[in-house]
Amino acid sequence: MGNIITIAHQKGGVGKSTLAVNLALCFQDQLKIALVDTDLQGSLYHSREEFPGLEIVGANRLEDIADLPHDLVIVDTPPYLSNKLPNLFAQSNFILVPTKAGFFDVMAIRATLALVHEAQTINPQLKAGIALNMVKPRSSITADVADLLESLGTPLLRTRIHDRVSIARSSITSGILHSTDKKAIEEITSLAEEIVQLIIT
Ligand SMILES: Nc1ncnc2c1ncn2[C@@H]1O[C@H](COP(=O)(O)OP(=O)(O)O)[C@@H](O)[C@H]1O
Ligand SMILES: [Mg+2]
Repeated sequence: MGNIITIAHQKGGVGKSTLAVNLALCFQDQLKIALVDTDLQGSLYHSREEFPGLEIVGANRLEDIADLPHDLVIVDTPPYLSNKLPNLFAQSNFILVPTKAGFFDVMAIRATLALVHEAQTINPQLKAGIALNMVKPRSSITADVADLLESLGTPLLRTRIHDRVSIARSSITSGILHSTDKKAIEEITSLAEEIVQLIIT
């Protein structure tokens, strides 16, 4: 049984699917990866032709997720608190909670973090981290929001992903790693490394 990284935030539009696919592409040279799309809207699953080298499987595989013969399973989740999340979280090794630095995004994050904390009481090995995504350059809101997020009991990851056209376009250009945007590549690679470090320590 491989490691499971689940990406969750009950709000839509915070970058769950974007980070899920780009993290999967980052790891796929070294590891046998499955990307599981549990969003019934199925955006990743339906765009799987865009990523020919990547194994993207549908939500029906959720039941047997722990039996998938992969080194690493990355699970994308829907933009609401699905009743499948508690079980999924309890089986995961890491929960990544991406968020924008907006007021409503941060208000909405608490419900997801509460589920993470519940899962951590059942599975004490479970690690989690919040990642600031779509960060605007030189925005003072980001610093205020970072302070607030630090107080919520789930670590705020060091890596910040900025608001970049190359990232917005990454789902139609076979992923950020294939772009020429070095800064975007650095950010996604750094996020992948930070998550691996947290899982193995
Ligand atoms: N760092 C970023 N910079 C620019 N656009 C982004 C970034 N992350 C995500 N997006 C864009 O924001 C929108 C929402 O992202 P998506 O991954 O679908 O969010 P979610 O899965 O949480 O609903 C998409 O159009 C995506 O291309
Ligand atoms: Mg999504």
